[in-house]
Amino acid sequence: MHDSRRRQFMRSVAGFGSALAFAPVMALAGGAGMNKKPIPATGEQVPVVGMGTWQTFDVGGDEQARSNLVRVLQAFFDYGGAIIDSSPMYGSSERVVGDLLDKVAGKEAVFAATKVWTRGRQAGIDQMQRSMRRMRVGVFDLMQIHNLVDWETHLETLKAWKAEGKVRYIGITTSHGRAHSELERILATQPFDFVQFSYSLANRTVESRLLPLAQERGIATLINRPYQGGRLFRRIKGKPLPGWAAEFDCESWGQFFLKFLVSHPGVTCAIPATSKVEHVIDNMKGGAGKLPDAKTREKMRVYFESI
Ligand SMILES: NC(=O)c1ccc[n+]([C@@H]2O[C@H](COP(=O)([O-])OP(=O)(O)OC[C@H]3O[C@@H](n4cnc5c(N)ncnc54)[C@H](OP(=O)(O)O)[C@@H]3O)[C@@H](O)[C@H]2O)c1
Repeated sequence: MHDSRRRQFMRSVAGFGSALAFAPVMALAGGAGMNKKPIPATGEQVPVVGMGTWQTFDVGGDEQARSNLVRVLQAFFDYGGAIIDSSPMYGSSERVVGDLLDKVAGKEAVFAATKVWTRGRQAGIDQMQRSMRRMRVGVFDLMQIHNLVDWETHLETLKAWKAEGKVRYIGITTSHGRAHSELERILATQPFDFVQFSYSLANRTVESRLLPLAQERGIATLINRPYQGGRLFRRIKGKPLPGWAAEFDCESWGQFFLKFLVSHPGVTCAIPATSKVEHVIDNMKGGAGKLPDAKTREKMRVYFESI
């Protein structure tokens, strides 16, 4: 988190009661070993694995689910996480993230990202201000236009907000391979810092045009649905992880899927979603240690497609 942003964050959480004490998980000592990549617009380094919140954080006031998610968040920060991606489209997720961040140690590292998902200038402003209150941030690290909805209108607001210091970076999202041609046209001319789209071993469409375009234009990329919403795990069920995966510090299929993505030179950060502590630890390990080189990535693709 940027220094001024961190100070604001600390101020904003100061009034929300004392942090609960949690037994530290078996952390890679403060995230040591987590790989980072630069955001091209500024060179700021961010961890290559973050966290999505669609469905997983939409738990409303359910206390049992909330206390489980505090442990998920704690493990996320213990293992060196920073980017958390939400949206007003995700029910109570923004509010739940905001409430629970106050209960974890190390949350100052958070890189808070959400989206604007409505039509009209004032409706967009109102929604973004509501998101700030819900996620309890004074300045959003990243505000993205969700699924290209009314993007021309919101882009004007976001350019002004960025100039005024209300958001640090601006982005635009899609998923499931939708609207790629339109997104390409937008990215070729508009000043976005980030773009978010789907990419996984089972869906590599973005390799041909969007990832090279992002590299060429100096746009950071967030990868959503890195497990195709969990479908990848069903596909490899009962299939052995190849022995050679150990050569790039890979101990599980989850790490195999994430390491394939974050080792692509055009990928900045993958944002898997989970509501399980053991899975968030697995996911963070997917960003740590050695990463496969281009030749090994090809071997991973061939192996995955053969099973
Ligand atoms: N248009 C957009 O802007 C857009 C669209 C889609 C998604 N997104 C963002 O991208 C994020 C990720 O996408 P997603 O939530 O659709 O799907 P995903 O991350 O590809 O998959 C989530 C599923 O994988 C399971 N899982 C996670 N880690 C695992 C592990 N290590 N081992 C085994 N299973 C694991 C989760 O179940 P458990 O809870 O059981 O672990 C969950 O069922 C979203 O949460 C959202 O923030 C943005």
